[in-house]
Amino acid sequence: MNRRYRKTIIAGNWKMNKTPLEAKTLIEEMKPLLAKCKWCEMVLCVPFTDIQTAVKSARGSKIAIGAQNMHFEKSGAFTGEISADMLKEMGVKYVIIGHSERRQYFNETDIDCNKKVKVAIAAGLRPILCCGETLEEREQDVTLEVVRKQIKIALRDVSPDDIKKVVIAYEPIWAIGTGKTATAEQAGEVCSAIRDCLRELYGARAARAITVQYGGSMNAKNALELLTQPDVDGGLIGGASLKAPDFAAIVEAANQ
Ligand code: 13P
Repeated sequence: MNRRYRKTIIAGNWKMNKTPLEAKTLIEEMKPLLAKCKWCEMVLCVPFTDIQTAVKSARGSKIAIGAQNMHFEKSGAFTGEISADMLKEMGVKYVIIGHSERRQYFNETDIDCNKKVKVAIAAGLRPILCCGETLEEREQDVTLEVVRKQIKIALRDVSPDDIKKVVIAYEPIWAIGTGKTATAEQAGEVCSAIRDCLRELYGARAARAITVQYGGSMNAKNALELLTQPDVDGGLIGGASLKAPDFAAIVEAANQ
């Protein structure tokens, strides 16, 4: 973390978990535990069907609500899809774009991510753009190339002014939901390479102000060590964001 230049953001990604009633219960449980949070922003990216309840339950707290995906068209004949404007009107502040599960199971490409990032920003949402390598790519020693390519395509034509609204989440695919975390050095190395790439695209000043999160089995135990890396500015948390004490412990680590 480097709080002098950028915000630390701890975001939960609930994935396909929690009904609206369960969402309400979990947020009510989290609220008192998160009340002391001073230095970081907290976000919960909930299923579409939980958004209304989550926004209502989080009212009066510092928790912002995010979505996990959106469509890149403004409106139209896209059965089953949700637009950026719909999310915005519901009170959503953040939207995850290009999560590896979307890429893997729903064939999302870097070009789709690029369209979504631009549409999200235009609607007034902050995209959390995900990138990360597979185990095979890491073993082939092409991690940095893979991540750079993902970032460069997804941010194409995003203006220097708009880049301030983007959060990047580095999520090595082999660490997602596996209980296998990247070491602090591995996370730090890739997050720093991401910042180098942002520097090339937008200059040193802009790059220094962008929040780059780590995601992949981040939990109450390993959060502090990961967050001590200078270029790791927060976390995108799956499993551990479904338990109030665990999520609160990660937020506490980010406040140290
Ligand atoms: P886990 O924390 O469950 O590994 O999930 C990480 C993730 O995919 C967050 O988007």
